[in-house]
Amino acid sequence: MMKFQGKHILSVSQFDREAIAKILQISAQMTPYASRKKRCHVLEGAILSNLFFEPSTRTRVSFGTAFNLLGGSVRETVGQENTSLSKGESLFDTAQVISGYSDVIAMRHPQMHSVDQFALGSTVPVINGGDGANEHPTQALLDLFTIQSEMMHFNKGLDDLNIVLMGDLKHGRTVHSLSKLLSLYDNVKITMVAPKALQMPDSIISTLSDAGHEVVLTETMEGNLYCDVIYQTRIQQERFASKDEAELYRGHFSLNKSVYQKYCQENTVIMHPLPRDSRPEANELDTDLNDLDNLAIFRQAQNGVLVRMALFALTLGVEDQITNYEKPVNWYTNKNL
Ligand code: CP
Repeated sequence: MMKFQGKHILSVSQFDREAIAKILQISAQMTPYASRKKRCHVLEGAILSNLFFEPSTRTRVSFGTAFNLLGGSVRETVGQENTSLSKGESLFDTAQVISGYSDVIAMRHPQMHSVDQFALGSTVPVINGGDGANEHPTQALLDLFTIQSEMMHFNKGLDDLNIVLMGDLKHGRTVHSLSKLLSLYDNVKITMVAPKALQMPDSIISTLSDAGHEVVLTETMEGNLYCDVIYQTRIQQERFASKDEAELYRGHFSLNKSVYQKYCQENTVIMHPLPRDSRPEANELDTDLNDLDNLAIFRQAQNGVLVRMALFALTLGVEDQITNYEKPVNWYTNKNL
């Protein structure tokens, strides 16, 4: 079994099925704390440094929330311009300094492999919160947790899945990491719906096909969305050379109720890492889907707290002590109704 304590979490490639099963099991154990049935102070006194050098809503706040829910404290910095990176300090030097202040570090940065570089200078575990178009391992783990919990309703698991990935598969780091994780399961069919120029990188397609999975590449939704899970992604404008280039692809694959009813299975689960681009010219996941039970996007975002709590517990070696540090919740809450 992979050892988590003291280890960085930089890429999904470091996990096998056994390690993933452990992460998903500990994530599920975090439900009473995230839903405020109980609280836990196992990390009281510990400090997370949450370094976000690229915009984020969910990842940054859910890392902080997860750490607080385990009793720890969070220090944050947001945007490169507000840090000494803007004065020419290297990632290595920043890591040497920040790891002296912290017990664990979560980091997002716009350059591919920058979090690996940072980790070389860190004396505490570093968790990758997204490095450019490369990877987003914690998102992929929460996506897998979501697929597992949504599929449970249909007596299915993570094997024998039929999944569609749609949108900007070239730049979408969440679908890169998720595809690598899915390659570890059995008999997966993955249909990749994208404009040719934004199709999944060849190396990731090879990872899936070398593992024996059926991979379908297509530019059309028609006839290709009949699946267990459809995972829509945003056109990643920030990764294009210009806004005009991104505009060429916006709105090509809008999923709305009419498309869903025409092409998807009755119970196809809809996922999206969020943020969704709800501007009329993009409308990639129409708000007319909001009343569908199978729209899992907000449950998916909530699961991020569970998975990140599990990763903190594992990397800081307290996963077996959680229930020894429980307390009652004293305040009003409607979360556990
Ligand atoms: N899914 C995701 O990474 O969202 P944020 O960019 O808001 O963190």
